[in-house]
Amino acid sequence: MAERIEVLLSEEEVDKRIQEIGDQISRDYAGKQVHLVCVLKGGSFFMCELAKRITVPVSLDFMSVSSYGGDTKSSGVVKIVKDLDESLSEKHVLVVEDIVDSGRTLSYLLEMLKDRGPADVKLCTLLDKPERRVVEVKVDYTGFEIPDEFVVGYGLDYDQKYRNLPYIGVVKFD
Ligand code: IMP
Ligand code: MG
Repeated sequence: MAERIEVLLSEEEVDKRIQEIGDQISRDYAGKQVHLVCVLKGGSFFMCELAKRITVPVSLDFMSVSSYGGDTKSSGVVKIVKDLDESLSEKHVLVVEDIVDSGRTLSYLLEMLKDRGPADVKLCTLLDKPERRVVEVKVDYTGFEIPDEFVVGYGLDYDQKYRNLPYIGVVKFD
């Protein structure tokens, strides 16, 4: 089926908001080093743009997770496909995500990361769909709250496509 993409948030709007969040993070972490943990692949575009706008010292690490399929997905148990390279001990960890949807993946992930001895763990997401939440997750920095629609761009995919769009679009099927 052919699909088309309708712009929801333009490149300018997204860039402006990322600058604001970068400024906020730079203020909140003044005098500290922030350790950004990117959840691949979706979080990668946002993480790079955000990191460039943070003025305190930054270090980066990456992890990739996948939900266990079928029935167990509802339990929120996620499998680590690629783990972090570095220890989180004593670090000020900021998890960077593309979107919080049901919250299942992140609630599991955040608990797991907190067990690794960091100084603190916070969460920054570009997009949030609060209507879809099944598991409560504390989001510390949100780019945009959006309605319950399937979005792509800025790292988010539909069938692995559209991650490279420099804006956020809604997938429409005509
Ligand atoms: P959840 O919060 O555990 O339900 O899962 C969030 C993950 O589902 C995100 O990291 C995305 O990979 C994916 N996801 C959720 N909503 C969308 C969307 O609108 N477009 C693309 N991917 C999405
Ligand atoms: Mg994701």
